[in-house]
Amino acid sequence: MPAIDTPAATRTTPLWTPSQVTVVFVLGGPGAGKGTQCAKLVTDYGFKHLSAGDLLREEQDRPGSEFGDMIRTYIKEGTIVPMEVTIQLLENAMKAAKDGEGKTLFLIDGFPRKLDQAHAFESTVVPSAFTLFLTCPEAVMESRLLNRGKTSGRADDNIESIKKRFRTFVETSMPVVDEFERLGKVVKVEAVKGPEEVYEEVQKGFAARGMKPLEVKE
Ligand code: C5P
Ligand code: MG
Repeated sequence: MPAIDTPAATRTTPLWTPSQVTVVFVLGGPGAGKGTQCAKLVTDYGFKHLSAGDLLREEQDRPGSEFGDMIRTYIKEGTIVPMEVTIQLLENAMKAAKDGEGKTLFLIDGFPRKLDQAHAFESTVVPSAFTLFLTCPEAVMESRLLNRGKTSGRADDNIESIKKRFRTFVETSMPVVDEFERLGKVVKVEAVKGPEEVYEEVQKGFAARGMKPLEVKE
């Protein structure tokens, strides 16, 4: 088993091939409904769900983390945490969740948010199968986030941070979506309606990529 414990930073080939691990990225502006759609896909398709934002918040709150203060600052400012940290957290979580030698399906939510992390992940961890991209106007996302902010306890669900997150999304994360789109690797779904209606469209997009819900599988 060569290279399995080599850190991503020094690896020159991916840790896994797409036949060992299927990765679907889930992107969309803040408040587009990524987490909501991921929860449904986990139930119906057997994906394991990893949220980059959740992993960063966990690391931020882990006693003794050398990255805690740095992550807190980036999240509050709505900017992108340096990729080395995020990719290592993802890789660790994938290793922990992987089903032995069997093929494992991962939904990676809120990642890659910047071109450098897209390239580094695909060349050192595993190339992605495709990206689910949820589109939604900022006004709709803003009201969802302000609503969530009443109970989420998140330091970035306030109007100042929300505006900064929108800006980061347009300037830094959209180039990732654009690049995957040029490669023909994006399933784009409008995410303005309710969760069930959006999910119907998501399922059509997955079917078009050859992905079927568990109970329909042969
Ligand atoms: O996806 P979520 O909204 O939970 O992300 C919250 C914050 O975590 C982002 O605004 C950003 O500061 C940070 N983040 C990041 N890189 C990622 C995902 C999230 O820096 N790939
Ligand atoms: Mg989320």
